[in-house]
Amino acid sequence: MKKLEHKVVFITGGNSGIGKACALEAAKEGAKVVVADLPRVKHEQTMEEIKAHGAETLFVPVDVADVASVKSAIGTTVANFGRLDVALNNAGIGGVYSGIHDMEERVWEKIIAVNLTGQFYCVKYELQQFLKQGGGVIVNMASLAGLMAERGLAAYTAAKHGLVGLTKNIAVQYADRNIRANAICPYYTDTPMLRAVPQEMLQHWASGTPANRLGRAEEIAKAFLYFASDDSSYCNGTHLAVDGGAQA
Ligand SMILES: NC(=O)c1ccc[n+]([C@@H]2O[C@H](COP(=O)([O-])OP(=O)(O)OC[C@H]3O[C@@H](n4cnc5c(N)ncnc54)[C@H](O)[C@@H]3O)[C@@H](O)[C@H]2O)c1
Repeated sequence: MKKLEHKVVFITGGNSGIGKACALEAAKEGAKVVVADLPRVKHEQTMEEIKAHGAETLFVPVDVADVASVKSAIGTTVANFGRLDVALNNAGIGGVYSGIHDMEERVWEKIIAVNLTGQFYCVKYELQQFLKQGGGVIVNMASLAGLMAERGLAAYTAAKHGLVGLTKNIAVQYADRNIRANAICPYYTDTPMLRAVPQEMLQHWASGTPANRLGRAEEIAKAFLYFASDDSSYCNGTHLAVDGGAQA
């Protein structure tokens, strides 16, 4: 039996990097996969790769920083597949390195809007659906910056710590309604998010881990599969650092 057989899995930011790797992992494990991403992204390739695993799939446009769009994306998911079993709140943007004393307010506001407030919007409407149908699973894509300070990325660090906190709150408030929520905390992972980063910086980050390399999106997707499936039935409100030993 596949681990997500017949489950409806909704993934924000599912068209790229970690989200796409999770979408493919879910497809391999028998899920119906909803890729929710910004309206203008080219998603045809992702859809083809998901279908190649024999999975049903649907693209829904969403901007997680826009509450009406989040509500509509979850509504479209349920209208198409009748329910929602697993939600991966993964959409996010990278930070902009600066001091706190000279950070532009609009940089702070944008990062918090997408990486924290947007996650709250998703969680709110996912929970409403879970409460109607009698349960569900939330996985939040935080970061190692949700557990430790990432020097120069104060807004990103604050947003990801906030997301880990939100995850714990879901656990304590909704466990009695058959709802679980856990967070994944990756270290730097080789995805399009890092495409503009200079090679020396990537090397520096790699050498910050005992593994001496960056993570791969497929490695983060294995943690997603664990939290999404019944394998993690006794995990709630916790997080898993997938970090090549960086934290140690
Ligand atoms: N790559 C890393 O080093 C790393 C490390 C730790 C955590 N993360 C987290 O993992 C998640 C995925 O990152 P990634 O590396 O795969 O990045 P990515 O840039 O490859 O993918 C991000 C996806 O999110 C989508 N997105 C961005 N803003 C959105 C919005 N407002 N609404 C809907 N979709 C939006 C993008 O279109 C894209 O498909 C993010 O939350 C990121 O913070 C990444």
